[in-house]
Amino acid sequence: MKVLVVGANGKIGRQLVKLLAEEKHHQVRAMVRKEEQMEKMKQLGAEPVLADLSGRVQDIAEAARGCDAVVFTAGSGGHTGADQTILIDLDGAVKTVEATKLAGIDRFVMVSAIGANKREKWSDKIKHYHAAKYYADEALKASGLNYTIVRPGALLDSEGSGKISAAEELDRGSIPRADVAQVLAVVLDEPNTYRRSFDLVSGDTAITDALKYL
Ligand SMILES: NC(=O)c1ccc[n+]([C@@H]2O[C@H](COP(=O)([O-])OP(=O)(O)OC[C@H]3O[C@@H](n4cnc5c(N)ncnc54)[C@H](OP(=O)(O)O)[C@@H]3O)[C@@H](O)[C@H]2O)c1
Repeated sequence: MKVLVVGANGKIGRQLVKLLAEEKHHQVRAMVRKEEQMEKMKQLGAEPVLADLSGRVQDIAEAARGCDAVVFTAGSGGHTGADQTILIDLDGAVKTVEATKLAGIDRFVMVSAIGANKREKWSDKIKHYHAAKYYADEALKASGLNYTIVRPGALLDSEGSGKISAAEELDRGSIPRADVAQVLAVVLDEPNTYRRSFDLVSGDTAITDALKYL
């Protein structure tokens, strides 16, 4: 499967790009927004492509053309304002969904956030972020694409354990980005996750088993 990673230069994105490049049955195209990021993507084994989520849907579609699946793991980050949350985490994600359809691709994996699917769980401090994730996920579900929405808990930079807990609804928790990247690589062609959404935190079950018996 040829996979476009959107947000490829991010902390999850880089780990996912590396994993997919190492897997024989996948090829990876890494979408980045700056020319100087392209060489790093080549070194990780990816085909780099330049496109910006603040740009046109048509340009994102061009970046995706020829791929079989898209993974969205971009985000404006905590250091920018609510305006960027709306423009990147919400509109950038929705544009990527539109671009995926325009490019004739059917499979889409979204990195959302735990609690985003339930208004009563939105955090007071970052309500705008949870709202952005919620509406991006709703747009994906309504798109007709074969989606999987992964809602991780708080992200950690620690080493992955390979063990997770994944279910439609979980209590808040955390998970290393390395494990999220592994989950994204596995869900791509795990039929049990097609047209489904789930919360994800560290747990006791091996990733492949947790996703097969979700
Ligand atoms: N932090 C948490 O605890 C938490 C919890 C649950 C879910 N999440 C979600 O997990 C995902 C990945 O997290 P992460 O820590 O890997 O994020 P990250 O390191 O901040 O990576 C985000 C990536 O998005 C890219 N990006 C930002 N604006 C863009 C634009 N206009 N066009 C193209 N790309 C753009 C950034 O590009 P540059 O490298 O050029 O800046 C960066 O590579 C995000 O969707 C985040 O919302 C986070």
